[in-house]
Amino acid sequence: VKAGATTEIRVALQERSYSIHVGSDLLAEAGELVAALGRLGSILLVTNPTVRALYGDVVVTALAAAGRAAPAVVEIPDGEQYKTVATLERIYDAALDAGVDRSSVVVALGGGVVGDVAGFAAATLLRGVRLVMVPTTLLAQVDSSVGGKTGVNRPQGKNLVGAFHQPSLVVADTKTLATLSDREYGAGLAEVVKYGVTLDEALFELLERRSGEILARDPELLAEIVARSARLKADVVERDEREGGLRRILNFGHTVGHALEQVTGYTRYLHGEAVAIGMVAAAELSQRIGTCGEDVVPRLVRLLDRLGLQASLPGDVDLDAVARAVALDKKVERGRVAFIVLDGVGRCAERTLTLAEVGAALAGMIGTEATAT
Ligand SMILES: NC(=O)c1ccc[n+]([C@@H]2O[C@H](COP(=O)([O-])OP(=O)(O)OC[C@H]3O[C@@H](n4cnc5c(N)ncnc54)[C@H](O)[C@@H]3O)[C@@H](O)[C@H]2O)c1
Ligand SMILES: [Zn+2]
Repeated sequence: VKAGATTEIRVALQERSYSIHVGSDLLAEAGELVAALGRLGSILLVTNPTVRALYGDVVVTALAAAGRAAPAVVEIPDGEQYKTVATLERIYDAALDAGVDRSSVVVALGGGVVGDVAGFAAATLLRGVRLVMVPTTLLAQVDSSVGGKTGVNRPQGKNLVGAFHQPSLVVADTKTLATLSDREYGAGLAEVVKYGVTLDEALFELLERRSGEILARDPELLAEIVARSARLKADVVERDEREGGLRRILNFGHTVGHALEQVTGYTRYLHGEAVAIGMVAAAELSQRIGTCGEDVVPRLVRLLDRLGLQASLPGDVDLDAVARAVALDKKVERGRVAFIVLDGVGRCAERTLTLAEVGAALAGMIGTEATAT
């Protein structure tokens, strides 16, 4: 990626294709990119107050220049607890009051929460209108804006109501990442490490080599990293649009990660922070069952550490509870769990393992920490 250059990633789906544009100064171009979609009706911009205060003006101005009128702006409250049907209703009403029609476009400006709920609104309004994602968190740029999963939470669990609705366009401006909190940024980096360690050793090496610039959030370097990550996810999505199987490799580190999030009541760890620990558990497991060598775990731990991510299970977490949460995971069948393991850095595969093997790997992680301290 040259200085200031934009990378365009084409995602070829069964029914149509769309582009992900990644660059270090793209928000002001969002209007032209949206206009290029053709037959443009009204534009509905969905965002939250935090993101609106930072980037609302530049995006509204850009969209106003592209559309026939200024976009209608719908603000939804900030936070995972608002990824609900009630928020969806607010979007529906604002869209219908603004005269949404089949040629309208919903633009989601924000992180994964805004993307998921605005995406589901776009999937269902008039049985589906076009969706443009303008992701402003690292997690949203490398993960949630790619792949077409949209939805909301229910008291019974996360993401239980939703639809596949592929975007028509994604505009990822890495300059927006400058204002993210360190924790949110780190949590996004964990997903980038996931792409490297499972699918792309060269990306992993880039992260190792340039961790300092990554921590300084160099927007050009981030554009390269986001583009590579989005390309890797898009490759998987192209081959498995509706999660028939292959797409499960994107869940590397997530079985233990989810269990850890759940056991700690979704308050102690951000999703990516839990995934970082889950990835180490999965790597440890891979080493134990012999799919990868002994060099992988230390290399992963060292990279996570350099990126400011915790890589070990803290001593006060109830291991049995984590193991039980893994066992309760929907993917467990007859005492066995489908697990994504590493064959080395940049190579992974799905294996069916016993819960005893998973438990032993978790116990091994505590041991690692105990000997290290
Ligand atoms: N659809 C998918 O495939 C998919 C994949 C992964 C995660 N998700 C979903 O994504 C959600 C998590 O997304 P997230 O991590 O982006 O969280 P988020 O959307 O809650 O954003 C995190 C925080 O950062 C703020 N923020 C956003 N952009 C900012 C910026 N540029 N500067 C400063 N602050 C900014 C937000 O207002 C929020 O407070 C979860 O609901 C998860 O289920 C969906
Ligand atoms: Zn994740």
